[in-house]
Amino acid sequence: MSKKEKIFRTTKEVLKTAKRRKSSSTRWLQRQINDPYVRQAQAEGKRSRAAYKIIQIDEKYKIFNEGSSVLDLGAAPGSWTEVAIERAGGFVLAVDILDMDNINRAVILKADLQEEDSFGLINKLAVEKFDVVLSDMAASTTGHKSTDHIRTQALAELASQYAIDFLKPGGTFCTKVFQGGTHNDLLLNLKNNFKKIKHYKPDASRKGSPETYLIARDFKG
Ligand SMILES: C[S@@+](CC[C@H](N)C(=O)[O-])C[C@H]1O[C@@H](n2cnc3c(N)ncnc32)[C@H](O)[C@@H]1O
Repeated sequence: MSKKEKIFRTTKEVLKTAKRRKSSSTRWLQRQINDPYVRQAQAEGKRSRAAYKIIQIDEKYKIFNEGSSVLDLGAAPGSWTEVAIERAGGFVLAVDILDMDNINRAVILKADLQEEDSFGLINKLAVEKFDVVLSDMAASTTGHKSTDHIRTQALAELASQYAIDFLKPGGTFCTKVFQGGTHNDLLLNLKNNFKKIKHYKPDASRKGSPETYLIARDFKG
């Protein structure tokens, strides 16, 4: 554990219960205030703790090269976009169905990626194809395991269509998927289109969460 991580992991805070707060909200708040990555994100001015997931993925797989262009799908509030700008430095296009605050040097598009028009909108904004396509897209969770799995899986499959349409040959695609259950169709499709595929759960991805990431490299084009 690095010196910095030690600092953020130290004291545990206990939340006082409020009469009208549901126990699930109390649990969520308790987890937030004791989460070292939440603290680190606050201390370092990141938009969310999710920043450390893509930083750790990049540290392991070197997905960003100097000057890489990046398409970031499901980008709000924008912490992956900020990391992409710092680490890649090429053209960065961030897309989300939600509003996003401006990010210096990124182009932001508000669009529902499930709508077919979004392919055309991205095409208009893209200067050329991208070196990297990221997707951290997530549907709001219902708590019903298989429903959440199916919805997240559908978003990962959708993201893979964008990657196949918008990546340069040799490009990299990184997407969130859920562990458990199958994602055979997605894997088969990626195997047909990329030379190397890895699964990786960064330390910043919560242990209890079924989320993990697929990193597909060397797009065949
Ligand atoms: C976990 S958040 C992304 C966090 C982001 N990577 C960051 O670091 O700030 C998931 C995002 O996916 C977006 N999303 C889900 N479905 C979408 C869709 N159909 N079109 C566009 N964005 C979508 C949500 O609005 C949400 O902002």
